[in-house]
Amino acid sequence: MPSRRVFASLLTAGASMAALAACTPENPAPSPVAANAASGVPSASASPATLGAAASEAATIAPAEPEPSAIPSSAAPSHSVSTQHSLTDPASPWVVVNKHRPLAPQDFVPADLVQPGVRLAVSGEAALLNSTTAAAAEKMFGAAASEGVIMTLASGYRSYSTQVATYNGYVASTGQAAADRASARPGHSEHQTGWSFDIGDGAGACSFQPCFAEQPAAVWAKANAHKFGFVVRYPWMFHDTTGYFYESWHLRYIGVEAATDMSARGIATMEEYFGLEAAPDYL
Ligand code: DAL
Ligand code: ZN
Repeated sequence: MPSRRVFASLLTAGASMAALAACTPENPAPSPVAANAASGVPSASASPATLGAAASEAATIAPAEPEPSAIPSSAAPSHSVSTQHSLTDPASPWVVVNKHRPLAPQDFVPADLVQPGVRLAVSGEAALLNSTTAAAAEKMFGAAASEGVIMTLASGYRSYSTQVATYNGYVASTGQAAADRASARPGHSEHQTGWSFDIGDGAGACSFQPCFAEQPAAVWAKANAHKFGFVVRYPWMFHDTTGYFYESWHLRYIGVEAATDMSARGIATMEEYFGLEAAPDYL
């Protein structure tokens, strides 16, 4: 964990990003940034409670309590997440995409993109999500509205070429080091999977800014998103694990069971939950 002073500087850097429409590309697309060639295979956890393998890999979930080292990799979990999914297939709700784990294939396009029936703050491809995420978003936005909280879909699917423009816009505005704490390099963004989207507040305040965390939509999402299968993917003070500043607006679908399990066990990041290495920087 960084000190308060370091965090303050990060917050300042985050605030400076407000000048950018954070996830809304506005720049033309120059040549792509080369994607790193990480294996995409999950690393072994230091103390794993490895669940059943999904196809070619095991989904490793961090234990709720200190785990006896003698537990074999095929041990049944002591907690209940009944269905396992791939951590590498971009069509899997558990795919982990970060600075060590680029999308494979790099130009992946979800096969089932749809526009959810929610309040939109964007149009075009950014208003699309994969069909599972869209259905869950409709439920979540509806539940929030029933409690008087209006959310908007501020940025959904982003193609590889759109991410090129988005990332390069950050680099042009802030330099590469700051850009890499706020925007994924092409081929490394969850937005390309259709499993992620950014929310805005009905009042339109603080979009993509640190102060969004205090807006009703973000407060509600932080407390309730897991009930609909979502996690706040880049939580407060976990940039050393996720590689990104706190993004109170960026939600990621992993399914109700896993999201609720993460919430109940107080696990903040997908990296920790699945027993994967931290990915603060590109390899
Ligand atoms: N802002 C997130 C990290 C992205 O660019 O995907
Ligand atoms: Zn996002």
